[in-house]
Amino acid sequence: MKPLYYTLFLVIFSSVHYFVICQNVPSSRSSQASTLVGTRLYFFGGGASTEVWYLDLSNSFNISTPPWHNDIVMPVGYSFGTSCLSPIDNSTIYLIGGRTWMANTGNYLYLTSVYKFNSKTSQWTTPTINNFNYNFTTRNEIQAVINNNGKIFVFGGTNFNSQTILYYNDMNVLDITTMTWSTLNQSQSYITNVDYTATLLPNGNIAYVGGRSISSSKVVNITDMAKIQIFDTKSYTWSIKVMYTINIISDNNYT
Ligand SMILES: *[C@@H]1O[C@H](CO)[C@@H](O)[C@H](O)[C@H]1NC(C)=O
Ligand SMILES: *[C@@H]1O[C@H](CO)[C@@H](O)[C@H](O)[C@H]1NC(C)=O
Ligand SMILES: *[C@@H]1O[C@H](CO)[C@@H](O)[C@H](O)[C@H]1NC(C)=O
Ligand SMILES: *[C@@H]1O[C@H](CO)[C@@H](O)[C@H](O)[C@H]1NC(C)=O
Ligand SMILES: *[C@@H]1O[C@H](CO)[C@@H](O)[C@H](O)[C@H]1NC(C)=O
Repeated sequence: MKPLYYTLFLVIFSSVHYFVICQNVPSSRSSQASTLVGTRLYFFGGGASTEVWYLDLSNSFNISTPPWHNDIVMPVGYSFGTSCLSPIDNSTIYLIGGRTWMANTGNYLYLTSVYKFNSKTSQWTTPTINNFNYNFTTRNEIQAVINNNGKIFVFGGTNFNSQTILYYNDMNVLDITTMTWSTLNQSQSYITNVDYTATLLPNGNIAYVGGRSISSSKVVNITDMAKIQIFDTKSYTWSIKVMYTINIISDNNYT
């Protein structure tokens, strides 16, 4: 019996081993960028990783075995950047800003480009951009939104290239139809600079919620959730909306 037992053990053990090797699961990571393309939810980088993974959402799945797939790696390691999908072809993804790392070495690269990923052909390119603002180099902790005309809006962010941390409140715009960059200088000071969420509303306004901001006295504060910065993508103007708390009263109080 004993040899049979060992043989069975060996068979079971090696099949488990085999299963583990074949299972496609990304290692732990944070600060990756993500974009949904059809039924594929892509993740780019994270830490100093160059990896690209997507979750196939075309069918329901058991969350203990998510359907992960690898794609072609990025030209650089990538984190704290932002990505968005072209509404012109619904398949090209643009990655903007972020911290970049030399592939396979993990050495920090003092550069920021725009990377373009064709999700149909799994090809990476570094497009040439007209009028690129080199102040944007190493800009990170940002969120991009893209409108239906192919204009990407990226507000503020911070640098990641020196001992002096700079917080920006400029609005950088990349028009992907002409590959032209423009920077709008802000004269007013705004409540949020970095780590906010950015949401394009149906009326063409972008709502910036939460995040961190820096004052003229260089104090970094967490943004008040009751104040929401609005950027109008038609007039290129800013406003602040102050929210009020409404306490939800249970139905019983009305009877
Ligand atoms: C999901 O997978 C786990 C682990 O294999 C299993 O224990 C569980 O029963 C599965 N759940 C469903 C709903 O199939
Ligand atoms: C892209 O997707 C949007 C939303 O699903 C759709 O309205 C639009 O027609 C699509 N455009 C192309 C070129 O497929
Ligand atoms: C670049 O940044 C410097 C210092 O932060 C600022 O004075 C300058 O106006 C910026 N240039 C552009 C083109 O935004
Ligand atoms: C922003 O300010 C910088 C420095 O003053 C200037 O070079 C740049 O042209 C300005 N950009 C715009 C869009 O006004
Ligand atoms: C930062 O937040 C603290 C606590 O809410 C507040 O007292 C302080 O005035 C804020 N500072 C600035 C510069 O907004």
